[in-house]
Amino acid sequence: MYTKIIAFFMTGTGNSYKVANWFLASVDKVKTELYQVREKPADFRIGENNLLVFSYPTHGFTAPWLMMKHIFRLPKGNGTHVVLLPTRAGTRILGLSLPGMEGTAGYLIALLLLLRGYKVKGVAAVDMPSNWTAVHWGLTDENVRVISAKGEAKVTRIANTVLSGHSFYSGFIPLILGILLARISFMYLIIAQLVLSKLFFASNTCNGCRLCQKICPKQSIKMLGNKPHWTYSCDSCMACMNYCPQKAIQVSPLTVFLFSYVLSFPVTTWITGKIGYVLMTNPPGIIQFAVQYLYTLISVALVCWILHHVLRIKPVAALLAGLSHTKYFRRYKAPGVSLNDIHK
Ligand SMILES: Cc1cc2nc3c(=O)[nH]c(=O)nc-3n(C[C@H](O)[C@H](O)[C@H](O)COP(=O)(O)O)c2cc1C
Ligand code: SF4
Ligand code: SF4
Repeated sequence: MYTKIIAFFMTGTGNSYKVANWFLASVDKVKTELYQVREKPADFRIGENNLLVFSYPTHGFTAPWLMMKHIFRLPKGNGTHVVLLPTRAGTRILGLSLPGMEGTAGYLIALLLLLRGYKVKGVAAVDMPSNWTAVHWGLTDENVRVISAKGEAKVTRIANTVLSGHSFYSGFIPLILGILLARISFMYLIIAQLVLSKLFFASNTCNGCRLCQKICPKQSIKMLGNKPHWTYSCDSCMACMNYCPQKAIQVSPLTVFLFSYVLSFPVTTWITGKIGYVLMTNPPGIIQFAVQYLYTLISVALVCWILHHVLRIKPVAALLAGLSHTKYFRRYKAPGVSLNDIHK
């Protein structure tokens, strides 16, 4: 039925790459191509009767910016069929598998593709081992194995359904929850993401190997004085943190506290007295939002500048790293996936 299947994957730690590959593994006698979604677009051609498959992580109950950008970079759809397979944070506690929550991750991209003239043949989230090791320890090998095996079975089922000419839509409850939580997703995309990247820092065990900079799909890491520095374009894909050979990239609760404090009202009120409070709370709607957003951007930049300079003092870096929870966390990389496969 299809003349070619083109799979696109955006990934931090390999889950979405595996999902794209599992789909392609179900394809028989049809040409397949696989491309990574990166800041610099790949060179590909979409022809007659092609099927496009998209796999990418869920971030903040929605799709990452990079995926949305990718959709707008595609040529017009002219009815080309597409399947969307966002991956989400599967976990397993005491032998019980718990699903992640993709919210609008699948159907938002489906809508964008629809508006660009594509025909959506499938939308389904796939539970894969959660990779957010800035907030939790990496899953055990056994849990990773069980969750991945279920993921593979699901992707194979979806692939067989779509390749036999049928459609596959799931995730309506997560979609409703995602719409109810849209405010959180929006705040994640425009604020939390900026702050999250700025929570990373390289501890003294960093040897300046530059791997993190090389593999970053958003080209968000700059090396300053032989140490990585995270810019605002980071998509929190977690590749740098999980693949650093020295396990040097950490997140410290002290920096989390510092950011939370500076981003909240007390600081403005403390610095500017009543004027700060009036500025932040009194103007109506959009003006209030603009003032708060500007304040957030300026204060994040200021805290980052301070942290950047303070972290050059080795004992301070050692203290922050010593107090960081992530120092004790296992990292996560999708098993069987090499760095070369996903971050060329
Ligand atoms: C910053 C961040 C936010 C995340 N938000 C969600 C979420 O809202 N819902 C969810 O189910 N999983 C969430 N996850 C988990 C990932 O979507 C999941 O582990 C995914 O499979 C990672 O895929 P990758 O290895 O291809 O990057 C989040 C992960 C990160 C790093
Ligand atoms: S990958 Fe790790 S060791 Fe290498 S430069 Fe980055 S933080 Fe430092
Ligand atoms: S800086 Fe790290 S977490 Fe951010 S996009 Fe690059 S590799 Fe991913």
